[in-house]
Amino acid sequence: MYVIFTLLAGLAILPFLVYVRFPYFLHDLRYILNGIALGKRVGKYSSRKPCYTILDRFLERVNLHPHKSFIIFENDTYSYQDADRRSNKVARTLSQHCKLQEGDAVALFLGNDPVYVWIWLGLAKLGCVPALINHNIRAKSLLHCFSCCGAKVLIAAAELKDAVVEVLPALREQKVSVFLLSKECDTEGIEAITEKIEKASDEPIPPALKSNLTIKSPAVYIYTSGTTGLPKAAVVNHERMWLASFMQTLAGVRADDIIYVYLPLYHTAGFLMGLTGAIDQGITVVLRRKFSASQFWNDCRKHNVTVIQYIGEIMRYLCNTPKKDNDRTHKVRLAIGNGIRVDTWSEFLQRFGNIHICECYGATEGNTGFVNYVGKVGATGRVLSLQKRFQPFALIKYDTERGEPVRDSRGLCVEVPTGEAGLLVAKITKRAPFIGYANNNQQTEKKRLRDVLEKGDLYFNSGDLLRMDEEGFIYFQDRIGDTFRWKGENVATTEVTDVLVILDFIEEANVYGVKVPGHEGRIGMASLKITEGMEFNSTATYDHLKAYLPSYARPRFIRIQSSIVVTGTYKQMKVKLAEEGFDPSVIDEVMYILEEGKGYIPMTKDIYTAISEGSMRL
Ligand SMILES: *[C@@H]1O[C@H](CO)[C@@H](O)[C@H](O)[C@H]1NC(C)=O
Ligand SMILES: *[C@@H]1O[C@H](CO)[C@@H](O)[C@H](O)[C@H]1NC(C)=O
Ligand SMILES: *[C@@H]1O[C@H](CO)[C@@H](O)[C@H](O)[C@H]1NC(C)=O
Repeated sequence: MYVIFTLLAGLAILPFLVYVRFPYFLHDLRYILNGIALGKRVGKYSSRKPCYTILDRFLERVNLHPHKSFIIFENDTYSYQDADRRSNKVARTLSQHCKLQEGDAVALFLGNDPVYVWIWLGLAKLGCVPALINHNIRAKSLLHCFSCCGAKVLIAAAELKDAVVEVLPALREQKVSVFLLSKECDTEGIEAITEKIEKASDEPIPPALKSNLTIKSPAVYIYTSGTTGLPKAAVVNHERMWLASFMQTLAGVRADDIIYVYLPLYHTAGFLMGLTGAIDQGITVVLRRKFSASQFWNDCRKHNVTVIQYIGEIMRYLCNTPKKDNDRTHKVRLAIGNGIRVDTWSEFLQRFGNIHICECYGATEGNTGFVNYVGKVGATGRVLSLQKRFQPFALIKYDTERGEPVRDSRGLCVEVPTGEAGLLVAKITKRAPFIGYANNNQQTEKKRLRDVLEKGDLYFNSGDLLRMDEEGFIYFQDRIGDTFRWKGENVATTEVTDVLVILDFIEEANVYGVKVPGHEGRIGMASLKITEGMEFNSTATYDHLKAYLPSYARPRFIRIQSSIVVTGTYKQMKVKLAEEGFDPSVIDEVMYILEEGKGYIPMTKDIYTAISEGSMRL
């Protein structure tokens, strides 16, 4: 009897022991089970002929709940059935007017709008591949997007007509048919298409049109923005589309959720993790033309949004809005995204209430990813040894000065010890392929790294520095370009930024390294946006930086800007600022220079001359 009793007590205590020893056991288990189930799904989808795509999933949803709201946009609500019918009209119009065939690329040049979704679905019904073009780009960059994917058709929003007209001669030379989403257009060479779509039949499109699709066929082209250079088109095949869409399942999205999609649909976050992920779940999407910090929570309240996305600086923007009594009145329970900083994370939770933040890491074209499904503040993911076996990756030593990985005497890369930041490289295998960029072997090759841990092996170079702790959490440190070297020391710009924005009068900071004539490396410079109604306090800034940062990391120059420019994915632009440097005769904004012992004093032309002539050393 006694034996049985102890045995029972022992069993009862077991979960507790497991919990103490492995505090994330249940989270890990759920993640692993999810991972296995999702892996099976992809296996099943790829074995079908033609393969089973997100479009098929969508059509299944239409049958299952035709009248459920699919897209809510401004004052309109469209059901799953509406979307199906509207996309039939698009598909029919396009196939009649431009002889599209399975596999053809079609460039989409428009902002967030329900019609974006109808066109994509319509093209998918024809087996065509949309190239999602950033609607902010113009001229040479815009034309470049066509040569990447070989699109022979362009569909543009009416309000982007001028941008299209600008490149029209070149488009006509390349025999690109141009359609404008408008009722009329008097420019020769551009066809207005809205009325034709409206008049077309909404009968189903024969599935035979896309009978040759396999899981490896391209599904969309997504351009990686980058802060420099021309856009590159990452080929997203159906397999990758599924994997990215599964992010919602891994993050814990449920069938009764409502997701708020305001990120641009031309990028992975908005399109794959937002829109197609929502189709996989069969949920409602509240679509917004673009991000607005002031309208964000109103939208969430109005539409009972339960899941939000974030990227880059978005969470900071939300924290920077004036506090309101109803900050915690909303139904948002989950935030999925990438790039939230530790201080913003805590502030966000404190201010907006109990929202589970699911931070994840991955690149559109990358072959590895991490998910912080535990919600551990600061981490971008959690690594299980199981994952490492399936998708081998390594964090390797990186020489910031030479801009390449450190190699040992045998010519192999060197893994960093636990806790140290290293360049993330992921082995290119059949299971974790790197598809590369469309029509751009040179850029594709640049992302490949050979002889990493063994002679002859091949890895994907993420370009990101990450750090892993003993518990298996992985932390984003920096993009390679975001680290610079000064006086033999590495300076991580994100760390300096985090320290700067603690000061209440600094609303935003962008930190980068600038070249100084006659000096090696780059010296730190910060561009600051001052909080409205406050002033830059040079003494307080100096005292604060002295307390938190080693001398080499303290920005030597400070530039005050009225706003800080970000990319379409809300990442800060550093390259242009770094090129502009600190010459007061070029920059007409207020600048300061740090003088040891004195603090930040106004930058003058005389100081600049002294530095460039070498009479003043930094
Ligand atoms: C599918 O592939 C077959 C054989 O390669 C080809 O004859 C057919 O035209 C293709 N179908 C489509 C819709 O492209
Ligand atoms: C939001 O939820 C509330 C309470 O559950 C409900 O009364 C309201 O109608 C919902 N609003 C919308 C737009 O669905
Ligand atoms: C600037 O900061 C210092 C130290 O934190 C403080 O003593 C001083 O009053 C501040 N100056 C202004 C103009 O706010």
